[in-house]
Amino acid sequence: MTVTEPAQPAELDYDSLPTVSPLGAALDWKWLKGAKSEWGVRPKPGPRGLTMLDIAVGSYGDVPEHPKYRSMAPRGADVDPDTPDMGYILNNKTDVWSENVIELYEEAVARQWSATRDIPWGELPELRSDIEHAICQVCTTLTEVEMIAADLPAKWMWRMNHDFIEAKMFLCTQIMDEARHAEVFRKRALANGGGLLMSRGHGEGLLRTILEAKTYHQATALMHLLGEGFILDIFRMGELIAPSPVEKRIFRMAMQDEARHVAYGTMHIRYTVEHDPDVALTEFGTNQDFGSALAVLLGGGVEHVEDKGFPLQAELQRKQFTSYLARCERAGISRLTRTKLPLELLGIDRATVLAN
Ligand SMILES: [Fe+2]
Ligand SMILES: [Fe+2]
Repeated sequence: MTVTEPAQPAELDYDSLPTVSPLGAALDWKWLKGAKSEWGVRPKPGPRGLTMLDIAVGSYGDVPEHPKYRSMAPRGADVDPDTPDMGYILNNKTDVWSENVIELYEEAVARQWSATRDIPWGELPELRSDIEHAICQVCTTLTEVEMIAADLPAKWMWRMNHDFIEAKMFLCTQIMDEARHAEVFRKRALANGGGLLMSRGHGEGLLRTILEAKTYHQATALMHLLGEGFILDIFRMGELIAPSPVEKRIFRMAMQDEARHVAYGTMHIRYTVEHDPDVALTEFGTNQDFGSALAVLLGGGVEHVEDKGFPLQAELQRKQFTSYLARCERAGISRLTRTKLPLELLGIDRATVLAN
């Protein structure tokens, strides 16, 4: 294929351009005359295509610490000084940014999956009644908590300065991910002839605490670092919890998404944290229905709940607390000396936390 160079006018005669449109509006042709320093810079697509990282070239890649405007003007455009204030309250880069957020956005877009097509629903085996009840209870609780991780970013996103567009785009992918998680667990609860089981007030109370957090930092510490970190560890134990290969696949797919959300939160919290999340963690960790249903699944039936289920569940809990504390270390907010959790009682080893 021959590439023909576009024909260029020898010299644009700006003075000959009309100053009034056919409808009588004044025309200033600023967009055509503006000599932007970045004009002509051509980002190169990489092996994956043209990513958001590829186009973060020159000044387009500069994310300001304190954006000049509070409008939806695209970062890098020439902005009229009278651009309106959208009422953003998160106007510092440290309020929302994390160093990995652009890459996480690209990864999220590349790894979207379908709860309709990608789960072999037709292969669900007939399960013992206690096991079916247990997986239905686990799916009920998961369906209940998944959407908090969509509602919470949604609540804050319109308050985030538009210069942090990549962070907002990432949160959009998280919202879509959570919709799919709510979908897949709701589908599993119903798909095998079981259904949705118990929802209790204290679980709802925790969700409300997260949603009502006073600052985005508090909200994201409670949700990304704590709540989702906790869920991530459950998904990681999916091999042991899942009664059949169908649920194994569900947990595996959801785990990939959850890991991104936690990665954003951990890196974001590096900036600052003001809230003490320990209390809420303990509250979720002691959700009775969820805990006993997990114990039945881990034990392989109600008859093994005491000799096998509860010990394995305690092991899961120990892993959850350990990786939460390790995540805090990574985020630069060590809690080992400040935590109110009874580390010895829970069997949590400080050295393991630091090595995690
Ligand atoms: Fe989720
Ligand atoms: Fe999530």
